Amino acid sequence: MVCKKTWRIWQTCWTLRLFVLQDKFRCVMLAVSTCCTVLSCNGRTRAVYRCVQCVICFFFFLPWLQMAGEEAAKKTEVVKKVNRHHASRNPVLVRGIGKYSRSAMYARKALYKRKYKAPETKIERKKKEKARATVSKTVGGDKNGGTRVVKLRKMPRYYPTEDVPRKLLSHGKKPFSQHKRNLRSSITPGTVLILLNGRHRGKRVVFLKQLQSGLLLVTGPLVINRVPLRRAHQKFVIATSTKVNVSSVKVPKHLTDAYFKKKRLRKPKHQEGEIFETEKEKYAVTQQRKADQKFVDSQLLPLVKKEPQLRGYLRSVFFLSNAMYPHKLVF
Ligand SMILES: *[C@@H]1O[C@H](CO)[C@@H](O)[C@H](O)[C@H]1NC(C)=O
Repeated sequence: MVCKKTWRIWQTCWTLRLFVLQDKFRCVMLAVSTCCTVLSCNGRTRAVYRCVQCVICFFFFLPWLQMAGEEAAKKTEVVKKVNRHHASRNPVLVRGIGKYSRSAMYARKALYKRKYKAPETKIERKKKEKARATVSKTVGGDKNGGTRVVKLRKMPRYYPTEDVPRKLLSHGKKPFSQHKRNLRSSITPGTVLILLNGRHRGKRVVFLKQLQSGLLLVTGPLVINRVPLRRAHQKFVIATSTKVNVSSVKVPKHLTDAYFKKKRLRKPKHQEGEIFETEKEKYAVTQQRKADQKFVDSQLLPLVKKEPQLRGYLRSVFFLSNAMYPHKLVF
């Protein structure tokens, strides 16, 4: 009996001690065991006494229960916060292949609970916003009244029977007039060039400037080698190392590509019943050209004369003779 009593006292003491130390689990276990021993007791007074002890025990535990509840709530909060950034529910077996199938993941993610709607694309939104093409209107009239579906935009009354000529799409290509113009580095204003094509091929001329189209404006000068002011393509000239200082030579501004463009000559028409045959138009040098030629050459000639042998050089024609190897020539 004494042994039992001391045992119970010891038990209660331990319960309290553990409670103070906040060893909650063992505390609960001991309390429960104490209660059990109390309930198994005989005798009324004892039972009441033990019951009071039990109630005290319960009130001791009450604050702890509250604390435990609060702590549990805090813990779940923390868990929730962590869960916000949870990893995939589908562990990766190999890159690109998960452990679970698509249908298994559908169940695991509880996607059946969600109503998924794919986000609207831009095109779909536009389609929705599209203005209506027709509108129904009420029409009066005794016999023919009612509603009519009317087009908001009427069809054109007139359609052209022939195709309208349209400009072709350029596909980002610039027109020729806007192309970049290059000039070989060996050709600078004043360089003596050897023409390689045309009626003046082989002649040496003086380069004046590059025109808008990329062609080179050259001149003989005319009195030296009968080459007038004309255009030459840089691909069809040989640039020599001889140069004339033309920095002081003024070239009239109206010497453009349009100026040098070949004019169409009228052709004679042979029609029946025509008494006077229209004469064939012949090319003639205009006064304007003569004046321009004089203006440029008069500035150029003194410069040519200043240089010894230059006049003769410009007069001579370039040609290849025996034992003249083009690949060994230095111009
Ligand atoms: C070209 O001539 C101008 C004057 O007409 C002169 O100032 C310039 O120095 C000359 N250039 C060369 C390279 O001789």
